[in-house]
Amino acid sequence: MGKKFYFNAFELNSPVHQSPGLWAHPKDRSRQYKDLEYWTDLAKILEEGIFAAIFIADGIGYYDVYKGSVSTAIAEGAQIPINDPLQVAAPIAQATKHIGIGITSSTTFEHPYTFARRIATADHYTKGRVGWNIVTSHVTQEKLLDHDTRYERADEYLEVIYKLLEGSWEDDAVVRDREKRVFADPNKVHEIGHKGKYFEVPGIALTEPSPQRTPVLFQAGTSDAGRRFSSKHAEAVFISTSEKQELKEYVADIRKRAADAGRNPKDILVFALITIVVDETDEKAQAKFEEYQKYISVEGALTLLSGWTGTDLSRYALSDSSKKIAIDANKSSSFANGLTHSANAERTIEEVAKWIGIGGPGPTFVGSAAKVADELQAWVEDTDIDGFNISYVVAHETFKDVVKYLVPELQKRGVYPSSYANGTLRDKLFGYSRLPDNHPAAQYRDIEKVKKEEAANKTQKGDRIWR
Ligand SMILES: Cc1cc2nc3c(=O)[nH]c(=O)nc-3n(C[C@H](O)[C@H](O)[C@H](O)COP(=O)(O)O)c2cc1C
Repeated sequence: MGKKFYFNAFELNSPVHQSPGLWAHPKDRSRQYKDLEYWTDLAKILEEGIFAAIFIADGIGYYDVYKGSVSTAIAEGAQIPINDPLQVAAPIAQATKHIGIGITSSTTFEHPYTFARRIATADHYTKGRVGWNIVTSHVTQEKLLDHDTRYERADEYLEVIYKLLEGSWEDDAVVRDREKRVFADPNKVHEIGHKGKYFEVPGIALTEPSPQRTPVLFQAGTSDAGRRFSSKHAEAVFISTSEKQELKEYVADIRKRAADAGRNPKDILVFALITIVVDETDEKAQAKFEEYQKYISVEGALTLLSGWTGTDLSRYALSDSSKKIAIDANKSSSFANGLTHSANAERTIEEVAKWIGIGGPGPTFVGSAAKVADELQAWVEDTDIDGFNISYVVAHETFKDVVKYLVPELQKRGVYPSSYANGTLRDKLFGYSRLPDNHPAAQYRDIEKVKKEEAANKTQKGDRIWR
């Protein structure tokens, strides 16, 4: 029996995620993204298929590189309009029992003090089923700090979050003693006294401890700074590549970096982005795939690709080689780098647009359950990943098909869970509900000690002790 693996569903609170044009497919429900039923129906389908989580990407910004304008993105619904993902966590939790809810939030756009409260509230309402995909943002109309400085700032952002969610309120601070009329013991609620390079947060956390305290931490850094960040903080990482060898190297590198940082390398799960078109037989799946392809919007795909690569692709002919695409290193490199790989380098720009038009920049597996299962197992065995982040083509048909055809086949092979474990999302993934002691968050649990050490360090670093 092979290694067991997980599925996540990759979503966006917008009419188009990674399959531009497909919103016009007669069966597609993406245009209903603003109805709660869209989300609750989806979550129920996924929970039937024991998906670990529904993971909702996000961006504060829009794609305006293509033709130097946001017009094509608007016309195509290409990731604009886009709603706040965190607001669907509670309704999803109410409609389901187990599935995790991964929410993307950028360290660039919201102050950690308010974000700590929003994510902790979601962790309360979902009974500990929340994950946070930490992003530093790459698409924005605001001027961003440069790439590596964004990660440096994100590192301090996490420190503030840990201090608030792990350190501010002790486990037994809330007593709810009705006889004595004491709700919480003020001696067990601590000011965090944070004064750093980017943030100053002197006070206490606004929320009492939630089931997981800190949500399960997801991240998708691929650059050196990104990998340093994810191997330090993340419990699950996402990668998008259609190259097995690159994936294998990435997994080994992330696990090694985690071990070097004193963490257990098994405490980081790696999820690869893929798309699946599955049906009863190979022929039916292929026919479905070909039918989907008719709906791809090349303009929509070029809008996304231009944003990801930072290059206005309207400057090229569709028949030009994709090798011509220059990569702006300050943009999202993992999205862009797949384009220059050997397998893709021989493609024309139109071919690349059509490839990413079906589920984005990961590999697409088309076939019967047996065929797709063979391929997924081979990917897991060859690369040591822990699961797949599945992008959809037609909402919710793609996920319904996966649950109907593929999941039973994988369960039969013993490589996919047949039921959920109890407890929080972290319990289900790792068997414990709070971050482990070897995670950097743990050092902020005794916040009074941290404050003393920080004060001592400041003095040592040459602060004058008299004026
Ligand atoms: C599967 C996947 C999902 C991602 N989701 C988002 C997202 O929702 N929002 C966002 O701003 N960036 C997202 N990213 C981009 C990453 O956060 C990151 O910027 C990118 O992988 C490049 O890595 P680097 O920042 O280390 O260069 C995603 C990346 C991957 C691979």
